[in-house]
Amino acid sequence: MREARDKKGCFIAFEGIDGSGKSTQIRLLKNRLEREGIKFYCTREPTDSPIGSLIHQIMTGRIQSDNKAVAALFVADRLDHLLNPADGICAKIMDGTSVISDRYYFSSYAYHSVDMPMEWVIAANSQSAELLRPTVTVFLDVDPDDALGRISKARFQRELFETRERLVSVRQKYFEAFEKLKDVENILILDGGKEEHILEAEIWENLKPYFTRAETR
Ligand code: TYD
Repeated sequence: MREARDKKGCFIAFEGIDGSGKSTQIRLLKNRLEREGIKFYCTREPTDSPIGSLIHQIMTGRIQSDNKAVAALFVADRLDHLLNPADGICAKIMDGTSVISDRYYFSSYAYHSVDMPMEWVIAANSQSAELLRPTVTVFLDVDPDDALGRISKARFQRELFETRERLVSVRQKYFEAFEKLKDVENILILDGGKEEHILEAEIWENLKPYFTRAETR
């Protein structure tokens, strides 16, 4: 099987702490791609697969588990996300569709390494990294206090990870992972505190070449 790293479509992963505004920016990017007539598929992790829904139930406290088991479930969810014969994203990319994912393996590196060694998390995700490295990982950097403000406005019930202390450590872990992997990953760090349309224009300016290159291949 050809690997998705010999890819035709581009693969953009959005990352950020909870409340970083990823969903808004992904929505704006989708609108832009539709206007430009670019073929794309938008997805997210945890996914809506049976493995992903198990994760959602653990994260909302409906099922109890251990953080190490959850980290391993994310590894499985991600491999299924890449390789599932029905809608796996590797096949889509090889067919020339560009893919945008709301979170990918840097979320695991940041969120799980708060409780366990980052090296373990990176090693556990190595198959995903070999199969599909993002063309660009876009990190929307926001102040944890601003992020918490957005979360409490938007949601009635907070998930397990959404406390200030947790957001501060997760943000630090993201930066630690970016530093560790800067030679092999293409990481774009943007100020998520900017006005939404200014940030949208900045994201598009940076990503446009990858989407248009994919379209002409
Ligand atoms: P999020 O994008 O915040 O979804 P929603 O806006 O619906 O709450 O992601 C859900 C949570 O999953 C988030 O707190 C981060 C966590 N997460 C991990 O802990 N590990 C992972 O590998 C991924 C992809 C997400």
